[in-house]
Amino acid sequence: MTTEVPIETWRGRGFASAWSAEDNARAAAALEDGGLVVLPDCAFAIGPDERRFLDPRWLDGSRKNIGLDGERIGGSTARGDDARALHAMIARFAGEASSLVERLLPDYASHVRRARTSFRPATASGRALSWRKDDTRMHVDAFPSRPNRGERILRVFCNVNPSGEDRVWRVGEPFAAMASRFLPSIRPMRPGEAALLAALQVTKGRRSEYDHAMLALHDRAKRDEEYQRASPQREVRFAPGTTWLCFSDQVMHAAMSGQHMMEQTLHLPLAALRHPERSPLATLERLRGRPMV
Ligand SMILES: [Fe+2]
Repeated sequence: MTTEVPIETWRGRGFASAWSAEDNARAAAALEDGGLVVLPDCAFAIGPDERRFLDPRWLDGSRKNIGLDGERIGGSTARGDDARALHAMIARFAGEASSLVERLLPDYASHVRRARTSFRPATASGRALSWRKDDTRMHVDAFPSRPNRGERILRVFCNVNPSGEDRVWRVGEPFAAMASRFLPSIRPMRPGEAALLAALQVTKGRRSEYDHAMLALHDRAKRDEEYQRASPQREVRFAPGTTWLCFSDQVMHAAMSGQHMMEQTLHLPLAALRHPERSPLATLERLRGRPMV
């Protein structure tokens, strides 16, 4: 089993660049193999009037990012004209990220559902958090309250740091290696558990066996100090002006440091993948030997 995930890098490409069919295939292959696509020259332009937003004081303290979910802006202290200008900046990134996905990943374009767009003006490290919320520990993304039944989480990130500071990740071993390590000790869901969680409105919709396993993998990996320290991993640095993409439900990642980042989340049905058999769902079902949704 390989111990490194692929990283495909294209220099000189921006949000509106044209891509060949060969580029499209290479990008989709890297992502679906659990790797990263990195575009070091794909900068999101922050206007002179928007520079002031690169400051954690715009966070209202309820969470670590300012988010756009449809027309609403959340998590910010900005009001009035400030709120409108901040909204416009984040919405512009949503548009740029979507047009990048349309051009770079045209097979996905008609299937993706745009979810949250967020702006993170706080530093990636330096907050005292519980181990479960500590994203400096390697993990795959899984949402406790929103079961996705195997649907993919595609994320587009851009480092917008104005003072030259890289965003630094650790990228871990391939998903299958991580899952083989932890899945055997994860208990199946209890009978009635999914219905109970939905009835109590802990989850929006029914949690599947897949969602249950993904949450447990997220927790197992984060909680395991030895795994965090000694499992296969490498540092990946994203300089300011770099945009990168990955399926964050598949790439073992940890955000070690950096400040000021834009992020777009997109959901993609399994049917839109070139290789659904490489997805986390297919991998977990192979390991478990039975369907999980
Ligand atoms: Fe994450």
